[in-house]
Amino acid sequence: MDKALELKELKSRALEDKNLPLKSGATNLVFGVGNPNAEILFIGEGPGYWEDVKAEPFVGPAGKLLDKLLELIKIKRSDVFITNVVMHRPPNNRDPLPEEIEAYKPYLDGIIRIISPRVIVTLGRFSMAKFLPNALISRVHGKDFSVYFDGLNIVVVPMYHPAAALRNGDIMIKIREDFLGLPKILEKARSVRDKVYLEKNKEVFEQKQMELF
Ligand code: URA
Repeated sequence: MDKALELKELKSRALEDKNLPLKSGATNLVFGVGNPNAEILFIGEGPGYWEDVKAEPFVGPAGKLLDKLLELIKIKRSDVFITNVVMHRPPNNRDPLPEEIEAYKPYLDGIIRIISPRVIVTLGRFSMAKFLPNALISRVHGKDFSVYFDGLNIVVVPMYHPAAALRNGDIMIKIREDFLGLPKILEKARSVRDKVYLEKNKEVFEQKQMELF
């Protein structure tokens, strides 16, 4: 099935889900936005005030910084996909609770499965913890980790949250450097996945080649 259609169906299910714990305090579901065929998936923490109003992730001050960081590496926002670990705004922008993250997991995992990105950039500690539960952001930010997720080989790059960079000049320098390293990581992820795919399908390819003659 077409990825855009699959995402639309998953979003409809999330909209109808009465058990999502943060739903009652929120204005809108902030499911995610972007290119269904994106090579890079950004995962943040949860919607804030503006995201709740506009039903779109990263459209407030942190989102404006994310846009600038993407411009820096000449990647269009419309080329990537952006979502969060929780899809309704937590009251007063508090941290999401473990049981809340768990409740939205089927939808986040569904997005990952459908998009099947080459690279996931985690923004902040909550999305980082999904893939690298014991990592310290100060040690691992900007590095690439090969992660096996639901049958997919994905490269995960943990980064600081843009809101933290807005509060702290040192983190701003680090997040800029980490973004500048992203094109190279994407290039490497492309060649590695193609190699794994070719190796896994070597016999099928060889059989197909023989059938041609
Ligand atoms: N911060 C996040 O983590 N996600 C958003 O969508 C906006 C701000």
